[in-house]
Amino acid sequence: MEPQAKIETKDLNLFYGTFHALTDVNIRIPARAVTAIIGPSGCGKSTLLRCFNRMNDLVEHTQVTGRIAIDDQNILEPQTDLIALRRKVGMVFQRPNVFSLSIYNNLKFGLRIHGMLSRRNEIRQSVRTGLEQVGLWDDLKDKLSANAHTLTLEQQQRLCIARVLILRPDIILLDEPCSALDPIATLRVEELLRVLCKDYTLVIVTHNMQQAARVSDFTGFMYLGRLVEFADTQKIFTNPAEQLTEDYIRGSFG
Ligand SMILES: Nc1ncnc2c1ncn2[C@@H]1O[C@H](COP(=O)(O)OP(=O)(O)OP(=O)(O)O)[C@@H](O)[C@H]1O
Ligand SMILES: [Mg+2]
Repeated sequence: MEPQAKIETKDLNLFYGTFHALTDVNIRIPARAVTAIIGPSGCGKSTLLRCFNRMNDLVEHTQVTGRIAIDDQNILEPQTDLIALRRKVGMVFQRPNVFSLSIYNNLKFGLRIHGMLSRRNEIRQSVRTGLEQVGLWDDLKDKLSANAHTLTLEQQQRLCIARVLILRPDIILLDEPCSALDPIATLRVEELLRVLCKDYTLVIVTHNMQQAARVSDFTGFMYLGRLVEFADTQKIFTNPAEQLTEDYIRGSFG
């Protein structure tokens, strides 16, 4: 038997009003690995990613059908606790969305909205662990009260990842997390993702095929709202099953 998927969709369809943005998506995302979602602009990558923590609920006139199971629980059921879901399935965006607060309070903020504030020394310990996990502690430990906007973009993106990590998620969704970064910073963040996937399930949307090839274990190729192919990354990039995948990775379109 195949190992249980961490995330599994069954006939997932999504409409924005009358626009059919996702069509019959069936995907199985393995635990503790990096899965990349690639495909040309507008093919539904971000839409699919946002399904996994029901962020599309925030978009008006969105209709979703099918099933999205996380650990075999259908998160589309109405009784789903969305706050708990978004703690368990964290998200990192294209532009680092740090708040105009101190580094320390950026991290404490997430704990507060999730009701995870405890005694002060426990908060300090969580902040330290979060910053250690993203490789920022040594650089920032003496300036935790500095405004997060004074950090470099790479540090800001790492801080955003730390802000997700201290909520102790299982899954981290990353929507083009390196597109605001220079190539060196991009490689360093990719290294971080390789470390994190030992403990977390990562799903990364990227425009950059080289990035998908470097960082992911599995790759899904999407086109016009459909998942065309899903396989080991090496297979997708060397011997894809579908002609459309082959054309895309050879640069024939998109
Ligand atoms: N809120 C919305 N209302 C209506 N249509 C939307 C909305 N959000 C996205 N779309 C449309 O759904 C389709 C998929 O969008 P999505 O953002 O998921 O694509 P994407 O693959 O992430 O593209 P990109 O690579 O440009 O980020 C596009 O045609 C887009 O215009
Ligand atoms: Mg997108």
